[in-house]
Amino acid sequence: MSVLFVDKIRFLDTTLRDGEQTPGVSLNPEQKLEIATKLSDIGIDVVEVGSAAASDGERSALQIISDAGLSSEVCTFVRALPQDIDFAADYGADSVHLVVPVSDLHIEKKMRKTRDQVAAMAIAAVRHAKERGLIVELSGEDASRADQSFLQSLFAKGVECGADRLCFCDTVGLLTPEKVAEFIPPIAKIAPLSIHCHDDLGFALTNTFAAMKSGATCAHVTVNGLGERAGNTPLEELVMALEILYNYQTGIKTEEIYHLASLVSRLTGVPLPVNKAIVGEMAFTHESGIHAHGVIREPSTYESIKPEMIGRKRRIVLGKHSGSASVESALHEMNYKTDDHQLKEIVKRIKQLGDEGKRVTDADLMAIADAVLAIDYKPVIKMRQFTVVSGSNAIPTASVMLVVDGQEITGASSGTGPVDAAMQVLRKSIADVADIRLEEYHVDAISGGTDALVEVTVRLSKDGKIITSRGARTDIIMASVEAMIAGMNGLLRGEHENRGKNPR
Ligand code: KIV
Ligand code: ZN
Repeated sequence: MSVLFVDKIRFLDTTLRDGEQTPGVSLNPEQKLEIATKLSDIGIDVVEVGSAAASDGERSALQIISDAGLSSEVCTFVRALPQDIDFAADYGADSVHLVVPVSDLHIEKKMRKTRDQVAAMAIAAVRHAKERGLIVELSGEDASRADQSFLQSLFAKGVECGADRLCFCDTVGLLTPEKVAEFIPPIAKIAPLSIHCHDDLGFALTNTFAAMKSGATCAHVTVNGLGERAGNTPLEELVMALEILYNYQTGIKTEEIYHLASLVSRLTGVPLPVNKAIVGEMAFTHESGIHAHGVIREPSTYESIKPEMIGRKRRIVLGKHSGSASVESALHEMNYKTDDHQLKEIVKRIKQLGDEGKRVTDADLMAIADAVLAIDYKPVIKMRQFTVVSGSNAIPTASVMLVVDGQEITGASSGTGPVDAAMQVLRKSIADVADIRLEEYHVDAISGGTDALVEVTVRLSKDGKIITSRGARTDIIMASVEAMIAGMNGLLRGEHENRGKNPR
């Protein structure tokens, strides 16, 4: 265990409260339960599930999460108002995050009150919450801009009246590690202290670490760093930095982190930035020749975290920066055998494609390798006919006639839109031959107007095997169909087919 921190750092996750305050994000009670369950399963100590006073939906979320028997403590945000506290107790919360503004700016301009009035409200609220049997975390909003002697005396009185824990909020992200070293130690002496940081200046994680070094025992975090404006301290970054950089065992099931991040991204509709630390798509993806070559030989050359530690896999993608080692390794995985001359030619053609600004998909690599190795590949699936109907009075429906392994198959399917209907009908039509899943769908418009060339890239999987493929047309539906059929054909190619005339 590290000497820098307390033996057991606690984590309060506020994805379902501060995270949900991200503009545009709104979760229903079932979605909140799904996320809370996952947070509890991975070992989060306290889950702040929302704000009981906000709406009926919030109260019902609090109730179903409290009834779910999670191992995490179930907490809800409350103001220093009796009604908020009653909602928390009546709907089953274990604890309240009782928030009072503590800077003069908030007290005077927002609340139009005096310090004494706010302190009196806080004390009354702590007493009321204790009478209602709740654990109380008394939280100072905008604490980093507060008069610290007022804050210390308010917190001390709160603890005398029964508050169990305290929380220092850097509400608009103005803390620095230097201020933390000055402000936190006196407060951490009063009672167990949480730190709640915002990332307006990109310092949330740094300040959270600094606070824990100064005596804070609990970190407020959110999954993927969601939260008001620039968000809060990201759970995944804090946990992995503690584990990797400080060799501190957090007790969090890190191998579930990516699954949790993807779940939260899907349910909130907030995409993961591709280059986000730990959970971004590119965090374990390598293209450049030197890097890819390095990680193929020894992953630690260009990776500081083993992807498996957070439930991810390394990806080597091909493009203009690729070198022969990564191309050879990708070809090897696809059962192609090449001699040096053929490999060189394949690398050259991949670089050409990359220079045209294209992502090089697996299907592209297969097409290039087939051409260079003069393999006369006959696709398993051929499309004879495809129709899609959509409009203001029609349920989007697609129908298709395919020839699969020489046999004619027809099918029809509806969807949420014409593209979805097209994807569904293709997948369902070949369901008897193979269970192919669409893992990812991505569209790029190549030029600006309504007649733009549209490029669709898909990622498909079958029995754990993954393939990427692309379609490019001015018609988005046909581009999607083209990408899908190219990918399905790639996945259905015979495993033992001889792919190489001159094996080395
Ligand atoms: O950032 C903040 O100050 C908050 C409080 C409302 C707890 O989220
Ligand atoms: Zn906040």
